[in-house]
Order: sequence, then C-alpha cells, then structure tokens
Amino acid sequence: MPPIALGDPVRASTIGVVADSRNPDFAVGQWVMGLNGIEEYSVGSAGGFTQPIDPAAVPAVTNYLSLFGAVGLTAYFGFIDVCEPKPGDTVLVSGAAGAVGSLVGQIAKIKGCRAIGIAGGAAKCARLTERYGFDAAIDYRGKDVAALDAAIRAAAPDGVDIIFENVGGDILDAGLLNLRHGARVGLCGLISEYNAPEPVGIRNLWRLIVNRASIRGLLVADYVPRFAEGAAAMGQWLREGRLVFDEHIDEGIENALPAFMRLFDGSNDGKMILKLATEEQGL
Ligand SMILES: NC(=O)c1ccc[n+]([C@@H]2O[C@H](COP(=O)([O-])OP(=O)(O)OC[C@H]3O[C@@H](n4cnc5c(N)ncnc54)[C@H](OP(=O)(O)O)[C@@H]3O)[C@@H](O)[C@H]2O)c1
Repeated sequence: MPPIALGDPVRASTIGVVADSRNPDFAVGQWVMGLNGIEEYSVGSAGGFTQPIDPAAVPAVTNYLSLFGAVGLTAYFGFIDVCEPKPGDTVLVSGAAGAVGSLVGQIAKIKGCRAIGIAGGAAKCARLTERYGFDAAIDYRGKDVAALDAAIRAAAPDGVDIIFENVGGDILDAGLLNLRHGARVGLCGLISEYNAPEPVGIRNLWRLIVNRASIRGLLVADYVPRFAEGAAAMGQWLREGRLVFDEHIDEGIENALPAFMRLFDGSNDGKMILKLATEEQGL
C-alpha cells in the first residue's frame, strides 16, 4: 500500500452504514466493512476489503472489526497457513495480549499446541493464562535480550517450534535463540520498530541456518478471497465456547489520536476500535 500522505486520514479497517450509493449492490442503510480512513464519512468502491456485512449474523456488529475482520483472519490464516501448526508443537506468541496475539494463542491451543505468550506487565500476563488459556506468560518489560532469552528458555526448555511475531526487535532476537530444528517463524508485525528513527537490526538470524528453520512474512490482504472460510471456522469455535475475544472501544473523532497511540503504549485491552457515529444517527 502507498504510504499515507501528510494531511490524509489515517488508513483503518472500518464498518459503517451506506449513506449514499451509486452501486446497486450497496443500498442506502446497508452495513459494510472496508479499508477506509479514521474519518466520519468515506467514499469507497466495491471489491477487496469492501464487503456487505450482516449485523444479525454476529453477537455485535463491531465483531466485524475484531474476530470476523482483518484481526481475526490475520490470526487464523497467519497461524494456520504460514506457521503450519502440528499437535504437540510449542508456540511462542509476541504481542500476545493484543487483538491478533490473543487469538493466535487460543487457536494454537485448539490445534493441540502448547502456547507461550509475551506481553507487557503483570496484568496482561495474568490475562494470557487466565482468560486466553496460554500455558505460560512472559512479561517483557525491563528485560534485555539475555533476560528474555532466559525467560523463554525457562518456559520452553526444549525450544519452540513456532514463533508468531507481532513485535520484533529484542523480542524477536530472543525468540530466535530458542528455535527448534525445523521451526517456523510467521512474521505478522514489528510494532516495536514502527516508530524507530533508524531501521532495527536483528542479530540472531543465524539461528535459522543452524536449525533449518524458516521465516515467512504474511499479509492478511492476500487472504481476502478466503475470508468466508476463516470466519466460518472462527464462528464455529466461538459457538463451541472455545474462543474469547476483547474489544477496546473509545468514542469520538476527537479521541482518534489517543486511541491510535494506545497501540504503542499497550493501554488497549483487545482490538482497538474508535466509534464515530452515534445512536442518534441510527448506529
Ligand atoms: N501482517 C498483517 O496482515 C497484519 C494484520 C493486522 C495486524 N498486524 C500486526 O499485528 C500486530 C498486532 O496488531 P493488533 O492489531 O493485534 O494490535 P494489538 O496487539 O491489539 O496492540 C498493539 C500491542 O502491541 C504491544 N506493543 C506496542 N509497542 C510495543 C513494544 N515496543 N514492545 C513490545 N510490545 C509492544 C502492546 O502490548 P503490550 O501491552 O503487551 O506491550 C500493544 O497493546 C502489529 O504488529 C500489527 O502491525 C499485521
């Protein structure tokens, strides 16, 4: 995707109601999901992420931004397609208490794996084991690569078969030190590096060589044609009570910047959503 130009709205997954339409497939009043901007009205066209959605088919319409949207489908396809889990695998997830990471840990458990999550702070680590069912949690705060390495080694003495990477930097470097033979690293995000003034160097890539391991980037956009398949699987697990998910909803366009910045200070508990329209507008 092209970089966001200065002065343009920040790109975001969105849901909303059609206010005006020149496309017969999108009637006024129809709920739609899409890739638009943090803005009160968007002009969109059919195709790609822009799909009609049915609020009656899900517990809450916002779930099209979390479990049944890009977040849930990133977790589903990123883990299953890219990381190729097998029962008995040990899985390390960074950004584990976040929207994507919390789902990856739960899918890992559903697939018969052992799940270890890395998150910031005692409260988030408690959520990993108590709410999301991870087998172990590691608090990364205050830890350098050596301390992270020791913590991962304590939680997974035989190493890890899969890393689902959301964070990068020191956390990825420490994870690489714990790869098992034939391990897979799914590179989903590098959130600790997004605001770095200089590119961050990863120093332990050599561990991929000695362990005959692989690393593969993933982009949820590639899976748009398979979204229905992923949503059906997630819906089934939700109905069976095997998945929980959280949404952190802030309100008002004036709160767009603080809401966005939560992603970088970790004060979001679940999928960060900004609600712009009001009940008075029928939403
Ligand atoms: N490849 C794709 O197609 C795709 C699609 C969607 C998302 N993503 C990526 O997936 C990752 C997770 O996204 P999300 O939407 O689920 O967000 P999220 O995990 O709900 O929120 C971001 C979390 O990242 C953690 N974090 C932020 N800065 C950090 C740092 N410097 N070091 C360690 N942890 C840090 C914070 O948790 P703590 O409190 O634990 O620090 C924060 O809550 C992001 O990297 C995102 O870019 C990729």
